[in-house]
Amino acid sequence: MLWTVLLALLVLLLLQTQLSVCLRELRAGGSSPPTFSSSSSPSSSSYNATQQRLPGAIIIGVRKGGTRALLEMLNLHPDVEVAKAEVHYFNVEEHYRRGLAWYRAQMPFTLPGQLTVEKTPGYFAAPQVPAHVWDMNPAVRLLLIVRDPAERLVSDYTQVLHNRLTRHKPYQTLEDLLLRKGRIDPGYKALQRSLYHQHLARWLEVFPLEQIHVVDGDALIRDPFPELRKAERFLDLPPRISPDNFYYNTTKGFYCLLSAGHDKCLDESKGRPHAPLSSQAFKKLCRYFRKPNKLFFEMVGRSFSWC
Ligand code: A3P
Repeated sequence: MLWTVLLALLVLLLLQTQLSVCLRELRAGGSSPPTFSSSSSPSSSSYNATQQRLPGAIIIGVRKGGTRALLEMLNLHPDVEVAKAEVHYFNVEEHYRRGLAWYRAQMPFTLPGQLTVEKTPGYFAAPQVPAHVWDMNPAVRLLLIVRDPAERLVSDYTQVLHNRLTRHKPYQTLEDLLLRKGRIDPGYKALQRSLYHQHLARWLEVFPLEQIHVVDGDALIRDPFPELRKAERFLDLPPRISPDNFYYNTTKGFYCLLSAGHDKCLDESKGRPHAPLSSQAFKKLCRYFRKPNKLFFEMVGRSFSWC
């Protein structure tokens, strides 16, 4: 009698396991899209339909332009999955040598029809990257988020300063690095990273402009939703991100994200107070960028209200 009961229990347990596996597979392979990408991330490769796929879109820069905010905001879309960490595949020779299988392995699992997005701001200014990206997929969509180049430079310096202070390393003031005998030093690396037209020119040797969507990073800070709507359109995604996905956090001084009852602000490395720079030096910087900015505006066919 006892054996019969035990056997019956065992059969029941087996049937239940089988049923839950079937249900999971049905859900993974089903035609209806998942609700929110953050909650739909499959954790196991045992799902038949889920795979790690190469990115269909890449946020290529610019460094300190708002690349993390853009990635996190795109991730609100149910048809988007993002690589959480910066991959640095196309710009770091050691990674590139590992090949596409390695790159793919850095990507999140996605369902068929979902778009994989990665961001590595270092791609924009690295000369070898456009051709490498083309070799991977000439149809890949590129997102470039730009910001007032003078503000970007100060933000860039602030990040480097922060890293040096944390590691108890010596540092120079921004003015020391930026000015030589009272004039802007064109050799300063952070200044060069703000010469958007130079870097974009290299991308345009390889990709048509229609394949590069320029996001206004200053507008994204002020009011993220309109920039996200434009990005959805560029990526051929159905409009799913709504103004309700954002709320202004007065403590942080920035918009934070809301999705399925969860809220999320970017970490404290985003939106930190900028290192000081005299208004005189800042004005010199603005004057210096006037011509490069104009060239950039001509390239992208639109202008931005930068200093
Ligand atoms: P600051 O720290 O200079 O303010 P990146 O992610 O490319 O490093 O860019 C960082 C910048 O993203 C920040 O620069 C910040 O201004 C900007 N940003 C845009 N939207 C933001 C948001 N919602 N929360 C925090 N920072 C945001």
